[in-house]
Amino acid sequence: MKLAVVGAGLVGLMTAAGFAELGHRVVCCDSDAGTIGLLARGIVPYREPSLEPIVQRNVSAGRLRFGEEPEEIMRNAEMVFLAVNTPSADDGQLQLAPLWAAADKLGEWSDGTRRIVGILSTVPVGTAERLEARLRARLPAHCGVDVASLPAFLREGYAVRDFFEPARIVIGTASSEAAERLDLLHQRLPGPIVHADRRSAELSKMAANAHLALKISFANELAALAEQTGADYPAVAQLIGLDPRIGPHYLGAGLGFGGSCLPKDARALVRLADEAGAPQTLVSAAIRANAMLPLRMVRKLEAALSGPSRRKVALLGLTFKPGSEDLREAPSLRLIAELLRRHPGITLTAYDPAAGAPAIRHALPSAVQLCDSAEEALTGADAAILVTEWPEFRKIPAEDYKNWMNRPIILDGRNALDAAALNAQGIVCIGVGRLPAT
Ligand code: UGA
Repeated sequence: MKLAVVGAGLVGLMTAAGFAELGHRVVCCDSDAGTIGLLARGIVPYREPSLEPIVQRNVSAGRLRFGEEPEEIMRNAEMVFLAVNTPSADDGQLQLAPLWAAADKLGEWSDGTRRIVGILSTVPVGTAERLEARLRARLPAHCGVDVASLPAFLREGYAVRDFFEPARIVIGTASSEAAERLDLLHQRLPGPIVHADRRSAELSKMAANAHLALKISFANELAALAEQTGADYPAVAQLIGLDPRIGPHYLGAGLGFGGSCLPKDARALVRLADEAGAPQTLVSAAIRANAMLPLRMVRKLEAALSGPSRRKVALLGLTFKPGSEDLREAPSLRLIAELLRRHPGITLTAYDPAAGAPAIRHALPSAVQLCDSAEEALTGADAAILVTEWPEFRKIPAEDYKNWMNRPIILDGRNALDAAALNAQGIVCIGVGRLPAT
């Protein structure tokens, strides 16, 4: 098939490259000339494991092309996928202007075949219907169009795996012809195809992310309860996770959820629900609980270290999760803000394995000294807070902490380290949801 994708962010690019890999001819466009220039040379401008070779292979094979403007693509493409960003306003409402702008640029076609426009972006319920009405009002009558809701469930860092081995492929359509054509497109992917009406497909995307946010906030509140009652939260998580009705995933306690999706989609669901008169009190509470976690960590630091204001504290990890170079809504930023607010005289150093990425240098407050190694960040520190569970932090030997740090106190904000082994070697290592060793 001939396909087009508007938007070369992670979802758009993965979809374009993935369908090219499956043998389709795909053109992917984006208004950012710099991004398109790099992609045309086979360079993926952000970290996403295994994606670049797929892009390169398909560009070389002539199945994948990149361009700046979407005007022409409807003329040739049988299906167009919109994967533009839908950022959220302060009140949680998703901004659809980029979606309308992309759709308004789609040109006419003359061959009489019906085109499918699929929305991959996360959007409020009812957007597919609005987009279809908008396209039909603008395009001449001979340009038949069906708008489908095709929510993408791609995690940063695992996008290639999530695309080629999806847990489910959701196809939200209003016509059986569109559903059949989209079935055909996805038939070489192994995941179960689930058909739904467009509104349900749209809501399922926000609901999935909001559910993950709920699970994480519950985990964090349980961890606090475990600390107060002398239970060990990681053991509790393992025990409840063995129940298949609960499952082991997204029970990890720590500094909470961040990134460009979970916080935004949870807020968007709350906003949508308020408008619809069906308030989502649980999701609202999960967002509030998530916002409290940095303060909880600062209080732990205050308990572990007298007079943090005059001390040097090292942060290990900054990105919203390991394997990413993304600082959007990262818990580290909230933690840094809280540390500086309560202890203006504190000295903060930070090291992240992705620290070389320009996005990190730009987003980090200037009060934090960004270091090139864990050793540099930890040298002379009175305490360290492990913020993001990058695997390399697990490999730091206990001796190094003792040699580098002024005092070997580690607050493990992700339960990533072997606290018992470190404690046995004279290091104070305090996890989340567990009592410090005595
Ligand atoms: C998320 C969803 O997992 C994807 O299914 C979805 O497609 C994507 O958003 C999207 O909407 O496009 P992603 O933003 O890459 O993917 O992040 P996750 O891997 O889900 O992690 C989100 C946050 O939750 C991270 O800050 C992570 O540290 C935190 N987390 C995760 C926990 O605090 N505890 C856990 O047990 C798991």
